Amino acid sequence: MSAPDEKTFYLETFGCQMNVHDSEKVAGTLLSQGYRQVASVQEAGLILYNTCSIRDKAEQKVFHRLQDFRRLRAQGKRFGVLGCVAQQEGEQIFERAPHVDLVCGSASYRHLPHLLAEIEAGKRATGLDDRNSGQTFETEFTARTNPHRGYITIIEGCDKFCAFCVVPYTRGKERSRSSEAVLAEARRMADTGFSEIQLLGQNVNSYRDPLEKTTFAELLMAVAEIPGVRRVRFTTSHPRDFSRDIVEAIDAVPALCDHVHLPVQAGSSRVLQAMRREYTREQYLERISWIQSAHRDISITTDIIVGFPGETEREYEETLSLLELVGYDSLFSFKYSPRPNTPANAYPDSIPDEEKGRRLTRLQELQRKISIRRNLRHLGQISEVMVEGFNEARGQWIGRTSQNKVLNFTAPPASTLERGAYVPVQVTATLPNSLLGVLVR
Ligand code: 5AD
Ligand code: SF4
Repeated sequence: MSAPDEKTFYLETFGCQMNVHDSEKVAGTLLSQGYRQVASVQEAGLILYNTCSIRDKAEQKVFHRLQDFRRLRAQGKRFGVLGCVAQQEGEQIFERAPHVDLVCGSASYRHLPHLLAEIEAGKRATGLDDRNSGQTFETEFTARTNPHRGYITIIEGCDKFCAFCVVPYTRGKERSRSSEAVLAEARRMADTGFSEIQLLGQNVNSYRDPLEKTTFAELLMAVAEIPGVRRVRFTTSHPRDFSRDIVEAIDAVPALCDHVHLPVQAGSSRVLQAMRREYTREQYLERISWIQSAHRDISITTDIIVGFPGETEREYEETLSLLELVGYDSLFSFKYSPRPNTPANAYPDSIPDEEKGRRLTRLQELQRKISIRRNLRHLGQISEVMVEGFNEARGQWIGRTSQNKVLNFTAPPASTLERGAYVPVQVTATLPNSLLGVLVR
């Protein structure tokens, strides 16, 4: 139990890695304001949901949660909705869930100390109007949850306006942090023991240094060269801005991980145009050929949407043939979900849900076969993994390869492994979604 005048918060996060990292910054900011983080709604005075609105299901989750805890308002608990649903629904949230005290979008988190003071004074507070400011959320107070691998946001927001996507409306316009600020944060992290750094952005490779000192590829290399940094990852890349120098950087600098996540969304140029992706199937495949002709064995993953309005069976099959052509290591796939304010919401020829489901299942079955084939190439290889944990039930250590694959492995009972260590593991069996191996002595 907490003391009566102690300020406590519970924070639950939905959605993408950007949200996960925003939550680390939000938690750090609250800690710096004298709050203590607790692990349950029951213990907390302030309950925060950092929300996602990318698809309808994600959005529904937060309203269900709020509904569940409505009665706790009588105990004096306060509620805040942060993130993409907050930005999208704005003050309407107060109508749908009258027990909410705070509604704040991600572009306004730097005002949190002031907003917290308002709700502590018993007022309602909103932070919704900062999407057009050029400022990013910089804070010294980031409460990172993993001591070995940490995120750094290098670019916030999105200016691409794909026809299906809420992000430009929820996260506002694209704004990059200065290369100096990014490098200073990476150095601080390396000094405090982080060996893996993940650079984040909705379109991470659209990064433009406001100081005009580095390109994105140069920034990758500069982070990788910081003493103590052993791995650098970056996500998510947008195909339109994916340039060859990124592949050259991966080839040249061992600390840059052998993995590119390059969402294609659809395999038909007609559908890509309707989605306003600003590349054709051929242009996308050209980028893939750059990655595949690297000296390093770079794994490639993607995101796919099936059942975009007007997608014909032939066009859908072009997506299937693209999967075969590229040979993705894995992918995330989704049924198209109409989103408020987006252009595609008004497009005719919507695809029935049942048909979307059929397309999704068939696509996932095909990808399973491709993933099995792709993983087989690792059989017998020795890969360096970062140790992430130990699975007691299976008696296996959990590791991750540079290619971002989970490699579970066994080690002699006497071996003392620690989370965050880098060890060589030989792959002895492969599964569709992971690899198995033994520690190499
Ligand atoms: N419906 C379905 N999937 C979507 N995504 C983004 N918007 C939608 C939508 N309206 C998917 C895209 C994107 C991933 C993060 O979510 O594939 O790359
Ligand atoms: Fe969800 Fe997109 Fe917001 Fe991330 S940016 S939380 S994926 S809506």
